[in-house]
Amino acid sequence: MNDLIEFDETQGLFHLHNQQISYLMAIEDFGLLSHLYFGPAVAQYHGQRRYPRRDRGFSGNLPGAEDRRFSPDTLPQEFSSSGAGDYRIPAAEIYQANGSKATDFVYQGYQILAGKPQLAGLPATFVQDQAEAATLVITLVDSASQVALDLSYTIYRQRPIITRAVLVRNQGQTPVRLNKIASVQLDFPATDLEVISLPGAHVRERQVQREKIGYGVKSFASRRGATSHQMSNFISLVTPATTENQGAAYGIELVYSGNHALELEQDQLGQLRLVAGINQADFSWQLAPLEQFQTPEVILAYSDQGLNGLSQAYHHLLKERLVRSPWQNRPRPILVNNWEATYFDFDEAKLRPIVDQAAELGLEMFVLDDGWFGHRDNDRSSLGDWVVDQRKFPQGLTHFTNYVHQKGLKFGLWFEPEMISRDSALYHAHPDYLLAAPDRQPAPSRDQFVLDLGRAEVRENIYQQMAAILATGQIDYVKWDMNRHFADLFSDALPADRQGEVSHRYMLGLYALLERLTQNFPQILWEGCSGGGGRFDAGMAYYMPQIWTSDNTDSVARLAIQWGTSLVYPPSLMTAHVSAVPNHQTGRTTSMALRGDVAMSGMFGYELDLTKLTPAEKQAVKVQIATDQQYRALVQQGDFYRLSAPETPAGCAWSFVAADRSEMLAFAFSELSQAQPAFQLIKFVGLDPQRQYQDQATRQVYGGDELMNLGLYRPVASGDFQSWRYHFRAL
Ligand code: DGJ
Repeated sequence: MNDLIEFDETQGLFHLHNQQISYLMAIEDFGLLSHLYFGPAVAQYHGQRRYPRRDRGFSGNLPGAEDRRFSPDTLPQEFSSSGAGDYRIPAAEIYQANGSKATDFVYQGYQILAGKPQLAGLPATFVQDQAEAATLVITLVDSASQVALDLSYTIYRQRPIITRAVLVRNQGQTPVRLNKIASVQLDFPATDLEVISLPGAHVRERQVQREKIGYGVKSFASRRGATSHQMSNFISLVTPATTENQGAAYGIELVYSGNHALELEQDQLGQLRLVAGINQADFSWQLAPLEQFQTPEVILAYSDQGLNGLSQAYHHLLKERLVRSPWQNRPRPILVNNWEATYFDFDEAKLRPIVDQAAELGLEMFVLDDGWFGHRDNDRSSLGDWVVDQRKFPQGLTHFTNYVHQKGLKFGLWFEPEMISRDSALYHAHPDYLLAAPDRQPAPSRDQFVLDLGRAEVRENIYQQMAAILATGQIDYVKWDMNRHFADLFSDALPADRQGEVSHRYMLGLYALLERLTQNFPQILWEGCSGGGGRFDAGMAYYMPQIWTSDNTDSVARLAIQWGTSLVYPPSLMTAHVSAVPNHQTGRTTSMALRGDVAMSGMFGYELDLTKLTPAEKQAVKVQIATDQQYRALVQQGDFYRLSAPETPAGCAWSFVAADRSEMLAFAFSELSQAQPAFQLIKFVGLDPQRQYQDQATRQVYGGDELMNLGLYRPVASGDFQSWRYHFRAL
C-alpha cells in the first residue's frame, strides 16, 4: 500500500489518486478488470459506481455465467480481450500456436512499487526521486495460452498525470504471435465528449481539429513508419463546453516515434472506448516461451482548467521528466542555418561571409545543413557517406569549424543518419542495408531509401561514421533529419514469419542508436527534425531537447503550426527561424517584426543569407537578437498560455508567464487587416490577481485581475501581418 495507490481487498478495488486526479478500477465477475473512473480527485470512493447489470440482446456472457446481465460486451474495461464476446475494438489480439486468437485476460495479482521503473529499450518519462510517483502493476493472465499482461500505471504525486504501458510475457510452452498490443485502453461511460486531434501535412503540421464523436470507429493513425506530419500521436477528449481556460480535458499522448493508432469507438450504448498504441497495421511479433514484449508508454493527463490546463500538465512533465539533455535548461544559442540561404549550392568560400556576418550581428551559432558530405550537390546522392566533401571544403571540415569557432560562434552540423542513397559508397559496399522486399524494386522517395536500423551492424556502421566526426570535439550541435516514410517493409535479417516486426524493430534500433550517441556525446545540443515536424513527438524529445517544428518558415503559417504544436509540446521543444521574404514555402511577404516575434515564441534562429540583408534589416536583426536574449529564459522556462486562436476575428495571441508569476511576455498577431474593424480585447491568463503589474513600455500599472478579467483593447492593425509585444513585470 502506498499513499498514492490503494487496494481495497474486500471490494476488489484499486484507487490511484493525488490532490488532483483519481483513477479507479475494480475486479469484476470472472476476474474481469473493469474501469470505473478517471477524472478529478475523489478523496474516498464508496463503491457507488459499480457497473449496473442488465440483460442486453446480442451481448452475450462468459462461459459458465449464471447472470445474463453481465456481459464483456458492455462492461467498461481496462484491457479488453478479443474473441471472448466483447465486440468493441480490442486492446490485444494474440494468435496462439493452434491458430486461435481467442483470449480471456483475467486478474491474477498486483504489485505496488515506489517510483517508476524504466522501460527497457524505449523512451519514457522518469522520476528523480522515488517519492514523487508510485507504480501499480496489475497482472492479467489468459489461462489457455498462458500469456500474462503486466499493466503498469504510474501516478505522479504533484501532477494530473498517469502513465501506462503493458509488458506481455509468454509463460506458456508454445510461441504466440502478437497481432495487436495496445499501450492503453480507456473506457468512458456514455458521454458527449468531443475529440481534438492534430492532423496536417508536410509544411502544414499539427492543425487543430475538433469533432463530435458519433457511433462507430474513428482512428487517428500513422502507418508511415514515423509519427508523421499527417497525424500526431496525441488526442484530447473534451466536453462541448471546454474552452482554452475552462472545462474538462483529457489528454492521451504516446511516447513513441513510429506507427501509431489512437482509436475511438462509441458503442451501442453511447459508451466511448479509447485504445491507443503501436498501429496494428504493419505489425506482428513472435513471442517464444519465456520472451517478453514491452509496449511504448502512453501519458494520460486530465485538467478541469480547459486546454491550457492540459497543456501545462504536458509541458511541465515533458520539460521536467522526459527530456534528459543537459541543454534542457541552458539558454539555446541563437543560430543561423544555411539551408534556405544556399540550399546545396555552397562551399567554404561562400559560407565564410555568412559566418562573418553572423558574428558581426551577434548570433551565437552557425549551422551547416544538408550537402557537406559525399558528393551531394542535390538530394539524389551520398546519404550514408558521412565524410566531408573535399570539393566544398578543400582543407577539411575542421578548417571551417575552426574558422567558425574563432569568430566566437558555435558550430552545428546536419545529418540524416537513417537514410541511404543508391549513389553512395555505403550502398555499393552494402546494397543489403536498406529495407527492400525480395525481387522488387524498393520505392524511392526524395530518391532515398531507409536503412534497416533493426540490424546491429547497420547501426554500428552509422554510429562509427558519426562518432568519428563528433569525437573531433568541433561539433556543438547536431540536426538529426529524416526525410521520407517507409514503403518496403522487409528486412534481410529476419525470417519470413517475422517480417511483421520490421517497423518496431526499426524503432528499437533507432532508439538504441540515439541512446548511444546522445549518451556518448551529451554536451552536444541535439535537434530532431523530419522534413520539419514529421517526427515531433515525446519519443524523440527523450533524446533531443528541441525539434524543428516545420519546414514552413512563413510566420503566418507558423502561427497555426506553433499553436497546434503547443497543445502538447512546450515552446522549449519548438525551434523557429526568421527566414527571407518572399517566403520560400508560401511566397508571402511579411515584416521583419512579425517574423521575429513568431520565431521568438520558440527557440530562436535565422534561416536566410545574412549577407543579403539591407542595412535596416541588419539593424533589425541586432535588435531582435538583443530582445531574444532578454526574453529567452522566460520563453524557454515560463508557462505558455494560448490566448486566442489564429484565423479568428480577434487574431492569434499567446503569452509566457514566469513560474512565480512575476513577469509576463505576450504576443498578439493580426493576419489580414479590416476596414471598420471591431475592437478586440486581449485578456491575459495565469497572472496573480492580487498583484500589480507594470507595462514595461508605457509604465502604466494594472492589477493582475484587471489584465485577466477586463483585458486590454488590442491596437487596430493598419496593414496585414502585424504583431505586438507586451511585457509586464509585477511590482
Ligand atoms: C528537411 C529539413 O527539415 C530542412 O530544414 C533541411 O534540413 C532539409 N531537409 C535538407 O535536406
